[in-house]
Amino acid sequence: MLNCLTAKLLNQKKLKFMLPKKVEKILNEQIEKEGYSSHLYLAMASWAENSGFKGIADWLYAQAEEERFHMLKLVHYINERDGKTVIPVIKLPPAKYAGIKEMFNQVLEHEQYITASINNIVGVCIDQKDFTTHNWIQWFVNEQIEEEASSREIIDKLNLVGTQNMYLFDRDILGMRRPSAVTGGQA
Ligand code: FEO
Repeated sequence: MLNCLTAKLLNQKKLKFMLPKKVEKILNEQIEKEGYSSHLYLAMASWAENSGFKGIADWLYAQAEEERFHMLKLVHYINERDGKTVIPVIKLPPAKYAGIKEMFNQVLEHEQYITASINNIVGVCIDQKDFTTHNWIQWFVNEQIEEEASSREIIDKLNLVGTQNMYLFDRDILGMRRPSAVTGGQA
């Protein structure tokens, strides 16, 4: 009788801690978005490297790794909460870009899209009363402030140097990277 009661209580506790299905679904959708971010920056890096911009390429390769780290963070979290992770097919990013400034404008636009997506997750957590995920997702909320700020900083610098003096910009861009969440140090 006692064992039966204990099992029932444990079950209730587990049910309370379980990831709500709507939260699980939106986190899985975010896995795909972070995976695409990684692919997009990898495609941009490859294009930049092929176009002779080694420094810009290295910045983007490092950014692609950061995005993969974001994707893995979501995968581990869903699994830790006893949810079901779906590893998605990632769509093809563009292979060519109109120019360096145009490309970084695309980076900023993409980060703004990701910020909106993270904010949407916060809304679903509140709606579902999943305060554990609400607390956990704050790391991404803060990360997005920095990701947008660093894209804006690069665009500001590009506006200052103009398109005629890309040598110095390409040489110095890596110095603009903040400490990496992946390596714990510079890019
Ligand atoms: Fe993981 Fe740049 O958003």
